[in-house]
Amino acid sequence: MIEQQIKTAIRDIPDFPKPGIVFKDITPILKDPQLCVNIVDAFVEKLKGIRIDAVAGIESRGFLFGLTLATRLGVPFVPVRKAGKLPFTIKQKAYKLEYGTATIELHTDAFEPGQHVLIHDDLLATGGTALAASELIQEMGGVVAGFSFVVGLGFLNGKERISPVCDRVVVLAEY
Ligand code: PRP
Ligand code: MG
Repeated sequence: MIEQQIKTAIRDIPDFPKPGIVFKDITPILKDPQLCVNIVDAFVEKLKGIRIDAVAGIESRGFLFGLTLATRLGVPFVPVRKAGKLPFTIKQKAYKLEYGTATIELHTDAFEPGQHVLIHDDLLATGGTALAASELIQEMGGVVAGFSFVVGLGFLNGKERISPVCDRVVVLAEY
């Protein structure tokens, strides 16, 4: 039901951002308020019974549903940001991309050691970003409560990459 609603809304953009890539454009979802409510409802339902003390949303598209989800769960939202954006003291993690490296950062007071942190993003592709976020959270003394994504690209095996960290991986629409 929710999976079909998401897939109907998503727009495929061939050859973006480079030739050969079919980009999953989620912006039509954001124009549908009822679908946005349904997405957050589905996450809440699938995450029922799991201890979650904070939701860490990954910049930038992980902010879209991350804050709403955290608010619905009644827990803090913490932004995982790209390098150089967070103003307070930070911890950072560099990770490999297909070409080159990227760095993500968290404020040192994002959560307390021992707290259970859900990692949220819009899309699970190779899993490199979510894995780096999970490692950063663990290095800061947090426990990974699980992962949640609106969309998963199953053929890139991201789930296999992140599930050794925590096997609670919620993907609402799998391709
Ligand atoms: C996309 C997507 C995820 C990540 C998934 O973000 O929103 O964050 O890539 O890829 P992975 O599973 O292979 O790591 P992008 O870096 O394009 O930036 P954006 O969210 O700021 O648009
Ligand atoms: Mg992103």
